[in-house]
Amino acid sequence: MSRRGACCRADELGVRMKRVITIEDLQRKISVEQDEILLAALLSRGVRFAYSCQSGNCGACKCWLVSGEVRELAFSDEALSPGEHEQGLILACRSHVRSDLTISLTASGQRNH
Ligand code: FES
Repeated sequence: MSRRGACCRADELGVRMKRVITIEDLQRKISVEQDEILLAALLSRGVRFAYSCQSGNCGACKCWLVSGEVRELAFSDEALSPGEHEQGLILACRSHVRSDLTISLTASGQRNH
């Protein structure tokens, strides 16, 4: 009996899917693995990025999620207020990559969208 077509999703086989992160400000794309922490993915690929606590408490790693999906871990309201979050800011240290993403690093700047 053939098992062709009866296999599993890549993640069920322990194969991590590749995702592309586009960093608008730098006009740069990097390839990462699904579920990597965004901050770690950026730093490990040489992207200069502000950070400090790496635990969702300081807010240094704020960035704009322009498009795509992340799975966020808990963080403090002092690091990222509900209003900032609603506007589209995320904490890179608390965000798992779940799809191709476009981000902007100018968290303190004004976006026109
Ligand atoms: S590095 Fe402190 S909140 Fe992300």
